[in-house]
Amino acid sequence: MASADPTHDSIQAAFTKRIEADRLVPLWNFFSNWFTFDPQAEAEPYLWHYDGLRDSVLESANVISAREAERRVLVLENPGLIGKHLVTDSLYAGLQLITPGEVAPAHRHTPVALRFIIEGSGGYTSVAGERTYMEPGDFIVTPSWAWHDHGHEGEGPVVWLDVLDVPLIRFLGANFTEHYPEERYPEGPPANDSLHRYGSNLRPVGYRRDTLASPIFSYPYARTRESLEKLKNHSDWDPCYGLKMEYIDPTTGGPAIPTISTFIQLLPKGFSTAPYRSTDGGVYCVAEGAGTVRFGDGENATEFRFGPRDIFAVPYWQSFSIEADEETVIFSATDKIVQTKLGVWREQR
Ligand SMILES: [Fe+2]
Repeated sequence: MASADPTHDSIQAAFTKRIEADRLVPLWNFFSNWFTFDPQAEAEPYLWHYDGLRDSVLESANVISAREAERRVLVLENPGLIGKHLVTDSLYAGLQLITPGEVAPAHRHTPVALRFIIEGSGGYTSVAGERTYMEPGDFIVTPSWAWHDHGHEGEGPVVWLDVLDVPLIRFLGANFTEHYPEERYPEGPPANDSLHRYGSNLRPVGYRRDTLASPIFSYPYARTRESLEKLKNHSDWDPCYGLKMEYIDPTTGGPAIPTISTFIQLLPKGFSTAPYRSTDGGVYCVAEGAGTVRFGDGENATEFRFGPRDIFAVPYWQSFSIEADEETVIFSATDKIVQTKLGVWREQR
């Protein structure tokens, strides 16, 4: 910061210049940029209307095959993060398309991936050779370093939202990818074996956990929706959340994914959430319903109308509220669990 004394300033500038060659930088020159009173996200609040994007997503099939692309994805790039290819400061998200008969070849990577199915039927993802067929609203986990490929045995396009912790894993320097020598990983257990084995409040006797990931990798919407439906008539509505549930690893009670928290929430018709902010940034996908999401207040407020399949980014420490015109169900994925483990997560109601 410039002072009233030009001599003082020129002494500092000369000093800064002189120590540059020794790879030294004075902290006082950027202290206030780093130690801000509040978190300052680069990401901006933004909403993608799925119906407006759908043609481009489908057209991508004419531009490149799933085989050639490896993964045919249109990345949701936040307007505040141009060139960084991220939906929020800490998460990557994209819309992936697979058409009938296609295969997205087997690979594995250390970043974790989750899918939230947007449209279509008959598509499947295979994790370590176990297939799970995807229906709209299903939440699917691909654990770190698990072999996976995708295919489609039905008709019409299948599109899902991918969310990955790539920025975090890249930042930490633990980013590895490997291609399987065959297009598909060899067939393993029958479809949905893990759901039946671990997803019914039962656990095989002698089960030993050998990874941090949930042994379940499909959380079908039909089951999730039924729970919300049964709970909605006799639950206390949280003023900021409505009725909000977290997807968990049933063997630990911890999050379904070790680095990404995932949630499903129901807001009844006419419900308005109270303004809320927290240090976890995230991506939200509307499973059902319609309404308005409002970011900030006063003259800086921005609002977006939303309908089914729309996706919006909530930057960290960004106050927002949701008004539901109809009964609304929203999926969300945030970095809350990482912050919780590090002891730095905060919220403000
Ligand atoms: Fe992948």
